[in-house]
Amino acid sequence: MALNASSNFLLSCLLPALIWLIFHILKKIIRYGNCFKTNIFGETHVFVSSTESAKLILNNDLGRFTKRYIRSIAEIVGHQSLLCASPQQHKHIRNRLANLFSTSFIAVFVEQFDQLVVSALSRWEHKGTIVILEEALKITFRAMCKMLMSLEREDELDVMQKDIGLVCEAMLRFPLRLPWTRFYKGLQARKRFMGALEKMVSERRTRGLEAHDHPHDFLQHLLLMEDDPNSCGANAALSLSDAQIKDNILTMIIAGQDTTASAITWMVKYLGENQEVLDVLKAEQRPLAEKSPPNAFLKLEDLNDMPYASKDESKPYSFLAFGQGGRTCLGINLARAMMLVFLHRLVTTYKWKVLDSDSSVEKWALFARIKSGCPVHVTKIREDITPP
Ligand code: HEM
Repeated sequence: MALNASSNFLLSCLLPALIWLIFHILKKIIRYGNCFKTNIFGETHVFVSSTESAKLILNNDLGRFTKRYIRSIAEIVGHQSLLCASPQQHKHIRNRLANLFSTSFIAVFVEQFDQLVVSALSRWEHKGTIVILEEALKITFRAMCKMLMSLEREDELDVMQKDIGLVCEAMLRFPLRLPWTRFYKGLQARKRFMGALEKMVSERRTRGLEAHDHPHDFLQHLLLMEDDPNSCGANAALSLSDAQIKDNILTMIIAGQDTTASAITWMVKYLGENQEVLDVLKAEQRPLAEKSPPNAFLKLEDLNDMPYASKDESKPYSFLAFGQGGRTCLGINLARAMMLVFLHRLVTTYKWKVLDSDSSVEKWALFARIKSGCPVHVTKIREDITPP
C-alpha cells in the first residue's frame, strides 16, 4: 500500500512534466525539423534525429564541435588515451595508431582470430547451453590481448579480464575515492593493469627490442618506433611516449572487447530467430568450409567470398555504429573481420536455438548490452566439414 501511494504520488508529479516535455519537443520538431537547440530544465540541449545531421556534427566540417569524454574517465583510462587527449594530441596519437591497422596486419590477425574461435567452439560441444555474450567477451578479450601484447597465458588473461571489467565499470561512476566505491576499485584495477604492462615493457627493453623472439604485436611496433635512435623528422614526430603507449593499449582493449562481443551476440540472436536469413547465409558459408583444406585457418581473402554476410545496409535513421568523422572507429575493419570469422565458424559447426527471446538491454559502462546475454542451446552439425 505504501509503495502504491508513493508511486501514485511520483506519477502525479512526473506525468505533467513528461507530457510537457513531449509536447515541447514535438512543437520544436514541427517548427524546426530534425535538428534544433532548446532549453530544458535550465540546460541547453541539441536534438539531432536524423543520421544526416549526426554526420554533420561528427564530421565537424565547420570546425565548431570537439568531442571529449568527462574528466573522471581520463583518470580511469588515462589522460593520454585517445578518448581524453586534447584535439591536437588526439590527432597525433590517432595518426600513429592508424598505421598499425594496415591490411597486412589484419591478414595476420584474421588467422590468429580464427584459431581462437575454433578452439573456443571446440569446447562448446559438451556444454549444450552457451551464454553467447560471456563466450564472445572471452574470445574478443583474448583476441585483443594477443594482438596488442601477445599475451596468451590463461591464468594471466583471466586476472586481466576481471581487472578490465572493473576499469570499464568505473568509467561513468561518480569519482569518489573511497575503498568501497566502483570508481576506486576501477582506479586500483587500472594500477594493476599498468603495473603488468610496465613489467612487459621493461622485460622487452632488457632483452633488446630487436631480439628475434619478440612478437610483432602493437606494443612492439610502438616501442620500436619510440626507441629508434635513428628516428628523426617524420618518424620522430610519429612516435609515442611510454605513457601514451600504455594508456592507448588499455583504451584499445576497452574499445575492441565489449563492442565486438556485443555485436556478435546480437548477430547470433537475430540469426537464430530468422531461419530464412540463416539458410541463405549457410548456403554461402558451406562451400567455403568444404573447399578449405583440413586444419586450415581462414585467410583475409576468404572473407571476400562472403558477400551476403558482409552486406551492410544503411537504412534511414539507422545509427552510426562506428561513428563518423575524425573519431570514426579505428578498429572498424578488424571488428568486421572478427564478426565474419565468428559467423563462418558458427554456422558451419553448430545449429543453435535461442533460449531467451527477451531483447531488453542494460547499460554497462559506456555500452549498452543485451541483459540476458543470449543463452542458446547448441548442437554440432556435419562431421565432414568440422574445423581443424
Ligand atoms: C562491432 C565492434 C565495434 C563498434 C560497434 C565500434 C564502435 C565505435 C564507435 C561508435 C566509436 C566512437 C566514435 C566517436 O567517438 O565518435 C569507436 C571508437 C574507437 N574504436 Fe571502435 N568499435 C568496434 C570495435 C573496435 C575494435 C575491434 C577496435 C580495435 C582496437 C576499436 C578501436 C576503437 C578506437 C581506438 C576508437 C577511438 C577512436 C578515436 O577516438 O579516434 N573498435 N568505435
